[in-house]
Amino acid sequence: MIKFLYKNILKPILFKIEADYVHVFFLHASSFIGRFKFLRFITKKIFLYKNEYLNTKILGLKITNPLGLAAGFDYNADLLNVAENVGFGFQTVGTITNLPYEGNKKPMLGRLPRSKSLLVNKGFKNNGIDFILDKVSKKKNNIPVGISIGTTNKSYCDIKEMIEDVTNSFRKVVDSHLFDFYELNISCPNLSNITSVDSAFDTKEGFTLLLNKLSTLAIRKPLFIKMYLEKNVEETLLLVEIASSYNFVTGFIFANLVKDRSNIFFDKDEITNAGKGNFSGKPTEEMSNNLISEVYKKYKNRFVIIGCGGVFSGFDAYEKIKRGASLVQMITGMIYEGPTVMGDINKDLVKLLKKDGYKSIGEAVGSYYK
Ligand SMILES: Cc1cc2nc3c(=O)[nH]c(=O)nc-3n(C[C@H](O)[C@H](O)[C@H](O)COP(=O)(O)O)c2cc1C
Repeated sequence: MIKFLYKNILKPILFKIEADYVHVFFLHASSFIGRFKFLRFITKKIFLYKNEYLNTKILGLKITNPLGLAAGFDYNADLLNVAENVGFGFQTVGTITNLPYEGNKKPMLGRLPRSKSLLVNKGFKNNGIDFILDKVSKKKNNIPVGISIGTTNKSYCDIKEMIEDVTNSFRKVVDSHLFDFYELNISCPNLSNITSVDSAFDTKEGFTLLLNKLSTLAIRKPLFIKMYLEKNVEETLLLVEIASSYNFVTGFIFANLVKDRSNIFFDKDEITNAGKGNFSGKPTEEMSNNLISEVYKKYKNRFVIIGCGGVFSGFDAYEKIKRGASLVQMITGMIYEGPTVMGDINKDLVKLLKKDGYKSIGEAVGSYYK
C-alpha cells in the first residue's frame, strides 16, 4: 500500500519539484519524525523488518541487517534517530570536511529516471567537522553510525597540506569517540582541489603519504576507504595492495559515482541534457560489482568489503554479497523505489539465503568464489 502510494502519487509530485528542495524537505521531515517517540514507533512498525538471518558482526560491531545508508544523503547528521526505523542496519554521516563548505553552484542534484540515476554536484556541502561533532554528541543512535571524511573543498599548495586537512578531521573524530566506524573518502569526483596538487590520493605516492600520516593516529574503530568507481582493476589493486600493510585499514567501499558520460547504462537523451556533476544508481552497478569480485578473490578475508552502487532490490544486494561484500550501502534505490525498499530488500535477502541453504549473511559472503 505505502509502496503503491509512493510510486504512483508522492513520487510523481516530488519528481516535479527541484531535487535540491526535495532532499532538504526530506531531511527536515525525517528529523522531525526522529524527535518524537510516537512517530518513531509508527515508522518502525511500518518499515522495519527484522530477521536473525540478517544479523552480522563486523569487528565487534553488531549489525542487525547488512543494508546501510551510504554517505551523501545525511550529510549533516539529521537522520540519526530515523535511519534504523526505516530499515537500515547502519548509516554513514557526511562526507564531512575540516572546514565547512556551502556547496557547489546550484543545481547540486538532478534526476535521470530512465537511467535510474541521480546527478550529484554537491562538492561536500557540509557544516564542518566541529559542528557535526557537537551535534552528534547530543544524539543517541541505535544502529552503528559511521562518519565519512574527505578533504575540504578548496585549493591546496601541495599534497602535504591536503593530508594535514584530512588528518585534522580524523584526529578530532577519533578523540571524540562518537562514531562506530570511519570512512575515508578519497574518491569524490566533484572537488576543485584535486587539479591543484601535484599528487592526488589515488596515486601510489599520494596514497602512501596519506596512510602513513593516518597511521600516526590511534584509530581503533573499523576504517573503510571509499574508492573510485572508474579506476581499472589494476589501478585499484595497486592501491589495495598498498593498504594491505596498514592494519588500521579494515576494508573498502566499492564505490563512488560515475563520471564517464559514455557509460552504456545511461539513456542517451538524458545524459546529453544532464548538467554539471557525476552520477549514481544503475550506471554504477556493473563496475562496483567487478571491483568487489576482483578484490575479494585476491584478498579474501583480509578486507571487509562494503558494496555500493545501483542497489534497488534484494537480488542486487545479494549479488554484491555473493561476490564478496559483507555489507551493502545505497541511496539512489531508496529515492526511486521509496522508503519501503529497505524492508523489501531485507525480506528478499532472507528468502534468497534460505533458497541457497545459508543461515546467515556471513555464510553467503563471497560464495561465488568458494
Ligand atoms: C545525493 C548524493 C550525494 C552523495 N554524496 C557523497 C558523499 O558526500 N560522499 C561519498 O562518499 N559518496 C557520496 N555519494 C555517493 C554514494 O555514497 C554512493 O557511492 C553512490 O551514490 C552509489 O550508490 P547508489 O547507486 O546506491 O546511490 C553521493 C551520492 C548521492 C546520490
